[in-house]
Amino acid sequence: MLDKVSVSSSPAKVWEQLQGNEPMFILDVRNRDEFETWRVEGPHAAVPTLNIPYFEILDLEHDEEDVTESVMRGVQTHLKGQLPNDRPILAVCAEGNTSTYVAEGLRRLGFDAVSMTGGMEAWGNFYYWRPVEENTRYSLFQVVRPARGCVSHVLISDRHAAVFDPARHLETYHELATAAGARIDLVLDTHLHADHLSGGPALGERDHIPYYLHPYDAIHPMDMLPARIPYQYLKEGQMLRIGSAEVQVLHFPGHTLGMVAFLVDGRYLLDGDSVFLQSIARPDLGGKAENWAPLLYASLQRMMTMADEIVVLPAHFSDITAGDEHGVYQSTLGDLKRHNPGLLKLAEGEKAFTDYVLSSLPDFPEAYIEIKRANAGLASPDERKAQELELGKNLCALGQ
Ligand SMILES: [Fe+2]
Repeated sequence: MLDKVSVSSSPAKVWEQLQGNEPMFILDVRNRDEFETWRVEGPHAAVPTLNIPYFEILDLEHDEEDVTESVMRGVQTHLKGQLPNDRPILAVCAEGNTSTYVAEGLRRLGFDAVSMTGGMEAWGNFYYWRPVEENTRYSLFQVVRPARGCVSHVLISDRHAAVFDPARHLETYHELATAAGARIDLVLDTHLHADHLSGGPALGERDHIPYYLHPYDAIHPMDMLPARIPYQYLKEGQMLRIGSAEVQVLHFPGHTLGMVAFLVDGRYLLDGDSVFLQSIARPDLGGKAENWAPLLYASLQRMMTMADEIVVLPAHFSDITAGDEHGVYQSTLGDLKRHNPGLLKLAEGEKAFTDYVLSSLPDFPEAYIEIKRANAGLASPDERKAQELELGKNLCALGQ
C-alpha cells in the first residue's frame, strides 16, 4: 500500500508551486482526447507536459505481475530520455488512481515524482480566493476556479456577506465568510449560466437566504420553460445594501436577455459575462445569436460611457495567464476600452460589430443546454453527471 501522504500533491499545493513558478514537469497519463479537452495549467508560461495514456505505459507481462514493476518497464521502453532528472515530475490522471502507480514506478527508477491527489477531477474542483479590495467599510474577494476559468465574488461588510456567481461547491464560500467573521445574507447570479452549474439556488435554499436573478433569465431560452427555482427579481437601477456597502444593479442584455452587472461602491463592476479581460461575450448560447448580438452592441456601448477608473471583474477568463501577480483577474474599464478587441470593434458601428461577433463564435458545447436546464431547476444532475457536464474549460467568450 503506498503512502499517499508523502507521495502525492494536492491541487492546492500544485497551484502554489505553479504560482511560484517552481520547476515542474507534468506527465499526464489520461487518454489523448481527455488531455486535449483540458490539462493542468499555471498562471505563468506553459509547464513542460507530456501526455502518454496509462495503457501505453503499462506493459503487463502476465496478469499477476506487480503493476509498479510493469510501469517501470513501460517507462524505460516508451519514455526513455523524455523525462527530466532536474525537476520534480507530477503524474496526473483522471481521478488520481493510475497516476499513483506511475509516480511510484518513476520514484523506483530514481525520478523525483509525485501523483496529483484526485487527478483532473480534483483539479477541476479546486478553488482559491484573493482580496480585491479591503477598506474600513467593506472587503471584496475574488474566488477563482483556475482549471475552468470560472470566477465568483464575495462582498463582505459589517459581518454581512453577499456571494455573486457561486459555483456549485458551496463550502468554499462558507469557509471564506467564516474566515472573515461574516454570515452570508444573499446570493446573486449575474445571469443564467451555461458553462457551469450555479451554486446560487442551492446556497439560497441551504442557508435560507434570498437568491437573486433577473426575471428574463428565469426561463430556459431554448425550451422556453419557466425556471423552477425560488428567486427574487433583479432589475435595472435597483440598489442593494450589504452592511454599509451599496451595490447597484445594471441590466446589460446580450450574452443573455437577463444579464446584469453589479456595481459595488460605484467602483467595482462585477460584469458577469459581458466583457472579459481579452474578449467579449458570445450572444449565441440561447440559440438566438442574430437577435441578441445587437442587444450586446447596445449594452456594451452603454457600458463604455462608464468611467475609465471602474475596475471590471468578469465571471470568467479564457487565458489563465491573464491574472495579476496575486492571481486576481481584473482590469480597469479604461484599459479594456483601449485594448479589448471586441470593445474596439464597437467604434465601427452596429453592422460591423455584429458581423464580427457572428463570425467569431466558438463551438457550441451541447452540454450547455443541459447546464442551463439544471441552473433553471428544470433538471437535477447527480454528482457524476455534474462532473461530466462541467468537463473542460469554459467557452463563454467570443473566439479571437
Ligand atoms: Fe455565461
